[in-house]
Amino acid sequence: MIASHFLRRSFLTLFLSLAATAVLAQDKPAGQDYQPEVGQSGKDVVWVPTPQALVDKMLDLGRVTAADYVIDLGSGDGRTVITAAKRGARALGIEYNPDMVALSQRNAVKEGVTGKATFMKADLFESDFSQATVITMFLLPDINLKLRPKILGLKPGTRIVSNSFTMGEWQHDRSVQATESEGCQSYCTAYLWIVPAMVDGPWKLPEGELTLKQSFQMITGTLRAGGKETAIKGRLSGDQISFTCGDFPKPGFLLLHVRAPSLLQAVVLLCVCPAVPRSFLPKPHIPLHPTALRRFFRGLLSPAAFSQSAPA
Ligand SMILES: C[S@@+](CC[C@H](N)C(=O)[O-])C[C@H]1O[C@@H](n2cnc3c(N)ncnc32)[C@H](O)[C@@H]1O
Repeated sequence: MIASHFLRRSFLTLFLSLAATAVLAQDKPAGQDYQPEVGQSGKDVVWVPTPQALVDKMLDLGRVTAADYVIDLGSGDGRTVITAAKRGARALGIEYNPDMVALSQRNAVKEGVTGKATFMKADLFESDFSQATVITMFLLPDINLKLRPKILGLKPGTRIVSNSFTMGEWQHDRSVQATESEGCQSYCTAYLWIVPAMVDGPWKLPEGELTLKQSFQMITGTLRAGGKETAIKGRLSGDQISFTCGDFPKPGFLLLHVRAPSLLQAVVLLCVCPAVPRSFLPKPHIPLHPTALRRFFRGLLSPAAFSQSAPA
């Protein structure tokens, strides 16, 4: 089962990359009746369209709304950009093949979304996509890895949705599949990553120190305060850290906004307001115990603000 999954996946990867070098791009500009062919050459990846059923699921996975700015890296015939624009989002397609850009623009006109959907002829490696709130892509594993440092430098909370290909050891936060009955035969899995804030290092507390060790969105560390040392384990979702602390009386739960003026404020918010947004908690949900937490943190923390100290 696993072997056949990997064989199939390797074949699909090979198809996307080999065909990229096998077919030579046409120099002649194509006209209004230009018809792209699946597998035609692209600068770094050939054109294979994402099945529409998966496009819809990718945008659901990225929770795309009218408030978003979506950028599709290697936008092909523009379907992801156009679908995002139909949801009211601003969307930009970056595509190297000028004929595909022109085709996308014609498709956007047909779908009545020219006000929201734009396309530019550019190399994705030389493009600035820092303003996006959601990035979509259907590239290749090695291209994802090449883009990874730039992606990790994006604003915390930026959602990255990739058709079929992963990000090396950076584990995805969620994934979704489109089925055959929904009209998807191949390339039917999408992955989501949420760009984590960089929180690695020591955080100063009045009585001690919180030291966090970060590997992408995963956090381990220790809270040293009030003469106690407590192990911490958790994960980031953008600029929100949720983690368990110690085992009093069950694992405590702390949710903080990295950009909150102080860690303490976030803790107080949690203790006073047990209805802290559970949607941000990693699954399975760890039950919140506000009373226990209040006691736990009252014993550990003083009402002074926290700040992150310079890395040791
Ligand atoms: C596998 S297709 C995906 C198309 C579209 N995103 C979709 O999901 O339907 C990859 C696209 O990337 C484009 N492409 C390849 N290398 C590129 C590069 N360096 N810069 C911009 N676009 C590129 C190809 O022309 C092709 O249209």
